[in-house]
Amino acid sequence: MISLKPRQGILNITPYIGGKHNIAGIDRVIKLSSNEGALGPSPKVITAYQSMSDKIHRYPDGQALILRQALAVRHGLNVEQIVCGAGSDELLQLLVRGYAGYGDEVLYSRYGFLIYAIAAKANGANPILADEVNFTSSVDHLLASVTKRTRILFIANPNNPTGTYLPMLEMKRLRAELPSHVLLVIDSAYAEFVEQKDYNSGVDLVDAGDNVVMTRTFSKIYGMSGLRLGWAYCPLVIADVLNRIRSPFNISSTAIVAGKVAIEDINFVNLAKRHNSYWRDWLVSKLICLDLEVIPSVANFVLVRFPTTFGYDATAADIFLQSNGIIVRTMESYGLPNYLRITIGRDYEMQKVISTLSEFQRHK
Ligand SMILES: Cc1ncc(COP(=O)(O)O)c(C=O)c1O
Repeated sequence: MISLKPRQGILNITPYIGGKHNIAGIDRVIKLSSNEGALGPSPKVITAYQSMSDKIHRYPDGQALILRQALAVRHGLNVEQIVCGAGSDELLQLLVRGYAGYGDEVLYSRYGFLIYAIAAKANGANPILADEVNFTSSVDHLLASVTKRTRILFIANPNNPTGTYLPMLEMKRLRAELPSHVLLVIDSAYAEFVEQKDYNSGVDLVDAGDNVVMTRTFSKIYGMSGLRLGWAYCPLVIADVLNRIRSPFNISSTAIVAGKVAIEDINFVNLAKRHNSYWRDWLVSKLICLDLEVIPSVANFVLVRFPTTFGYDATAADIFLQSNGIIVRTMESYGLPNYLRITIGRDYEMQKVISTLSEFQRHK
């Protein structure tokens, strides 16, 4: 008989399942299920990573100073306000651990990133969902859902899995009308892909007050998901809290060195951004030609609605794509069973997705 019990709420967590990465019997798959950067890491990052192979017997710098300095220079920030994490996931979880507990509420949009609910429940807090409007976070609905118990409001901007975003003016209004007992966490994992002039990653809002944090990741445009590296830009008091509760060596020495090189390789980021814009627009136009509804996306993925007719639905499309070696993301876990999310990949991968979906429709 096992008498040990985990803390309240933990067994209510639905474990996060990452994008599928293999298909039985198929050697080379096209993986478009996790919004990883289409081009992978920059060649300079690969060289930097390899240069660390004879140094991994040493502990890393627990302050990740050279990386934080590179981030500070690149983005014009105070280095003391930057905290790095093993992926932005770690930072999102630490923020909940630091600021929410039993009976508290953690608020986010209906189709917000699944980790917010996991982090809330892991700390005994209750996830609260605010409705969206046209698959876009609604400042009005979010504000109306704030209660005395709300401790954190997470907003991914742009959001995953919808790909939609809120312009700076709406984010400013959210910040201005949010009571000061609520920590606003702006999850800007896809910020580098956004081209809209009315968008801001959240830096200005962090600077404007003491209850706003912005998180970023190296997993998307930098193509470094496997290294697990993210960072948060926070008011000093919040950076202090994160530094107290994070593990002392949360970033590996390879991630520190590779991350610094990635930040400094601006040409690569621009190339990845141009690639994404071109192929996202291309993919969307072809999907529309196939009579599929696409939610307008500013990120490196698109959410696509399939008909509910049996045989033409998202499940059938997913099965057909997989039988052709293509993995996209099914959306049941977000309550969107009629949708598939497709990450922008390499040119031949995008062409193969479209030719396969055309064949899927012809087959039926
Ligand atoms: C909105 C959002 N935030 C955060 C993350 C986590 O990224 P990572 O932990 O790899 O930095 C993801 C990853 O898919 C995401 O979509």
